[in-house]
Amino acid sequence: MNILLFGSRGYLGSYFKTLYPDAATPYVDIADAVAVAKALDSLKPDIVINCAGKTGRPNVDWCEEHKEETLRSNVLGPLVLLEECGKRGIYWVHLGSGCIYEGDGGDQGFREEDPPNFTGSFYSKTKLWSDQILKDFPVLNLRIRMPFDGSDSPRNLITKLRGYRRVLDARNSLTYLSDFLKAAQLLIERRVVGTFNVVNEGAASPYEIMEMYRKVVDPSHTFDRLTLADLPSVAKAGRSNCILSCEKLKGEGIEMRVVSDALLEAMTMMREASRK
Ligand SMILES: NC(=O)c1ccc[n+]([C@@H]2O[C@H](COP(=O)([O-])OP(=O)(O)OC[C@H]3O[C@@H](n4cnc5c(N)ncnc54)[C@H](OP(=O)(O)O)[C@@H]3O)[C@@H](O)[C@H]2O)c1
Repeated sequence: MNILLFGSRGYLGSYFKTLYPDAATPYVDIADAVAVAKALDSLKPDIVINCAGKTGRPNVDWCEEHKEETLRSNVLGPLVLLEECGKRGIYWVHLGSGCIYEGDGGDQGFREEDPPNFTGSFYSKTKLWSDQILKDFPVLNLRIRMPFDGSDSPRNLITKLRGYRRVLDARNSLTYLSDFLKAAQLLIERRVVGTFNVVNEGAASPYEIMEMYRKVVDPSHTFDRLTLADLPSVAKAGRSNCILSCEKLKGEGIEMRVVSDALLEAMTMMREASRK
């Protein structure tokens, strides 16, 4: 399988690079149609995986002040890939986000076909726009939510939360990256297309995650509760809090483990690493 990975230097791109170590990883601006066409014609991939996008540093508040760059990478880029991969009949995969929803979506969580209902940040708007365009085309769109792992990466949700003095007490779906990669690999092998929520079973709030962190990793860790009403005092843009359904993924025979088990595994890795 000849794989081309865009955005390979980012958090999720580097994970895909461990899954597909032989993938081509040219640095190409995905919003530059000529450069993308050139890369596709020279590398002749069977599969393109798009992990490129603007997520903001230190967080999505950055996107509020950098709207053109965010739009270019998160909307124009996927449109270019849609056209250029489409013309060549190349199977491609996009990394979407669940941050286009707000709420619990009823008993089962938001399903893939539910209309998005969160536009509280410019970042979320761009993810919503690309998500809604791609759904009418043969693309595998993997919607993830608050990704975490057992590493010290500043992009790991657990590491991020550890750095906050106050954390939200709103429950969310979460994506454990080792489970995500297994699910993505199976879908890609079968050349599945369409939108999939790829989140672990169940939900947890940042506050619950930090309570677990205190138990498993660092009993001296201190933090306070942040309510949704207090959020505007610490964040420029709104943050989505939502629960997504995993039923469609289960329909493909793919089960994501329960989120508390995944969190425990990640935190155990963090504890072992801290003892070395
Ligand atoms: N991490 C999350 O919480 C999360 C959750 C749901 C969905 N996602 C989605 O997953 C994708 C990857 O996220 P990530 O967390 O891996 O982000 P990341 O760590 O910021 O990595 C994104 C990479 O894409 C590159 N990039 C940005 N614009 C580009 C362009 N026009 N052409 C080529 N490369 C470009 C970035 O390079 P520069 O640094 O030079 O810009 C960076 O290396 C994004 O689409 C994101 O929206 C992420």
